Amino acid sequence: MTATTLQAYRAGLLHFHADPAFAEHAHAWHEDGLLIVADGKVVAAGDYAQLVGTLPPDTPAADYRGKVITPGFIDVHVHYPQTDMIASPAPGLLPWLEQYTFPTERAFADPSHAAGVAEFFLDELLRCGTTTAMVYCTVHPQSVDAFFTASEARGLRMIAGKVLMDRNCPDFLRDTAESGARETEELIRRWHRHERSLYAITPRFAPTSTEAQMAVTGELANAYPDTFLQTHVSENEAECGWVKTLYPQARSYLDVYDRYGMLRPRAVFGHCIWLDGEDRARMAATGSAAAVCPTSNLFLGSGLFDFEKADQAGMRMALATDVGAGTSFSMLQTMNEAYKVARLKGSYLPALRMFYLSTLGAARSLHLDDTIGSFAAGREADFIVLDPQATPLLARRTANSDSLEELLFALALLGDDRAVAATYSAGRLVHERRD
Ligand code: GUN
Ligand code: ZN
Repeated sequence: MTATTLQAYRAGLLHFHADPAFAEHAHAWHEDGLLIVADGKVVAAGDYAQLVGTLPPDTPAADYRGKVITPGFIDVHVHYPQTDMIASPAPGLLPWLEQYTFPTERAFADPSHAAGVAEFFLDELLRCGTTTAMVYCTVHPQSVDAFFTASEARGLRMIAGKVLMDRNCPDFLRDTAESGARETEELIRRWHRHERSLYAITPRFAPTSTEAQMAVTGELANAYPDTFLQTHVSENEAECGWVKTLYPQARSYLDVYDRYGMLRPRAVFGHCIWLDGEDRARMAATGSAAAVCPTSNLFLGSGLFDFEKADQAGMRMALATDVGAGTSFSMLQTMNEAYKVARLKGSYLPALRMFYLSTLGAARSLHLDDTIGSFAAGREADFIVLDPQATPLLARRTANSDSLEELLFALALLGDDRAVAATYSAGRLVHERRD
């Protein structure tokens, strides 16, 4: 039997055990903290002075004093094939899909192209401190194989799936109800719960699936209840109007998915901007979650997510980049824009809440909070080291921050990949910033 390898990390330590919007003591903050890890899992997190005595004297300890360790960020909605077309301008969602997205995704029929993009994408996630993402691949099953092969080689916990689409898209990107379901089932068998990989059934959005494909997709979601499901809903007004003409019998856009049994735990719906009260109540009642994508929504002019109404309904939600419509891989930059979206809707998102929504809140949205998202004992040791002195401006601003909230707010508003000094996955260093 191999001996347990203990590792320790000294820094400011922040994590959550509840949602700060609904609980008074939702977070743990240890200004001089210690995180203890063994065999890729958290052993303990607390005050340095209290925990250091529990360690054997020869335990290796990394000294990150002056920096802040948090659980790794979780991005619950991102398209890896769109990495190379980030920042492509178009007047709204539907022209953007036609002009850039579909032609770009065509290239993923080639496994070596897919593998190259997957490597760059994962580098970028880790540089930004994102240790888990819920990822759209393309319609090509080989794009999923390339992605999980790359993420498993790095030991990452990732969720991904093959896009299903059999209408209203170019012929070169179409599957059929039958082939899409068969390929999805093969991919579930190959990848779901293989190492740290998890599979997401991925109908792109209602307009690009026939009713036959929606029906078999709902059956798959039901047959494999512990898989994930991801799609887009109510992102853009033109799209919502289109869905009305395609599915006239449905009460709302979200109701299209509901009718096919796709609202369930581990189902994550991208955007959720134009939902009504009944939709939000269904999201909450079914344990589904919203992926809130502010940089994408502002970039495409899609609209403003209503955090207050989502909270009133008790919806699960988490922040997400939605690259390539999203304009940054950084969850810090995503918080920056989320804060402004909330302000424009007349509500307020404290920095603590935004960090929650990118860590434990995201894990809860995915029903993975027993595995990732906090430093509770036994959680996988995916964590990041944030540097409040990463840039001259951050250093100057955080030198006079009077509270944890001010420190986190400065990191969210002014930080990006430069603020991530190191990223660890299952206790292994997977990114270190070059100074
Ligand atoms: N709706 C359908 N496909 C997409 C996509 O790739 N990106 C975004 N933002 N919305 C979509
Ligand atoms: Zn998307």
